[in-house]
Amino acid sequence: MQQRIAFITGGNRGLGFQTAIDLKEHGVHVIIGSRDSKQGELAVEKLQAQGVDAEMLVFDIVKNEDHKAAFNFISQKFGHLDILINNAGIAAGPFPGDGPEHTTNIDESALRRVFETNFFAVVALTRTLLPLLKASPAGRIVNLSSILGSLTLHANPKSPVYHAKSFAYDASKTALNAFTVHLAYELRDTPIKVNSAHPGWVKTDMGGQQAPMEISEGGKTSAALATLPEDGPSGGFFHLGQPLPW
Ligand SMILES: NC(=O)c1ccc[n+]([C@@H]2O[C@H](COP(=O)([O-])OP(=O)(O)OC[C@H]3O[C@@H](n4cnc5c(N)ncnc54)[C@H](OP(=O)(O)O)[C@@H]3O)[C@@H](O)[C@H]2O)c1
Repeated sequence: MQQRIAFITGGNRGLGFQTAIDLKEHGVHVIIGSRDSKQGELAVEKLQAQGVDAEMLVFDIVKNEDHKAAFNFISQKFGHLDILINNAGIAAGPFPGDGPEHTTNIDESALRRVFETNFFAVVALTRTLLPLLKASPAGRIVNLSSILGSLTLHANPKSPVYHAKSFAYDASKTALNAFTVHLAYELRDTPIKVNSAHPGWVKTDMGGQQAPMEISEGGKTSAALATLPEDGPSGGFFHLGQPLPW
């Protein structure tokens, strides 16, 4: 079987970096996107030292020209893309604990910035790279969502995330989940599978040190969805193999 090619946005640190490590056992060639070339090179050195077949592409998801550059790079070098992990993401306050006016206190520019990175740019990048995924015999798209994107859980006072409200971040992940469902529907007669991943609450720069999950566990959901077999699900929302409510 031909070696699979993966592109992970925001792969220089955190969950993207860990997912690159987790893809090693599947023999995947990983291209990590990194906004900063030095950080990216350092990450590749660390990955290669752990035996990961990795390289780096300078990539900022909110720059449209970087989408085209990623298409050209992957197209010229490999002619196709097997795995796209839409991992890069940001959050903005107010966060839980910042006061009672959680939703109405949001700065509009922050709301737009979070949506730009976590939703609009993901849609645009996926559209640009889709011809390369269609050229793969088994394309896989993983959208890094969050349990905080679940409307069902946010609306339920008994759910563990009921009080964990951070409007910009949560709503951007809800929108991303909608993209997962709509894109999976559009691609339902193709071999491509599209799923949303909740990695868990993980100790990263974003997750913070109070998070219960170690970084070594945090890439598992993304890696599993990136390497789903032919009879695997599409259009779902998962954490460690278990479905989550939308
Ligand atoms: N950690 C958790 O507990 C948790 C839980 C649920 C979901 N998630 C999701 O998992 C994903 C990864 O989270 P993480 O915890 O690894 O976050 P992180 O530690 O903050 O890392 C974020 C990564 O995204 C990159 N990034 C941010 N903006 C970017 C942009 N405009 N273009 C390209 N790359 C950009 C960062 O690059 P720089 O180094 O250049 O800043 C970094 O590589 C996110 O989508 C997040 O929402 C995380």
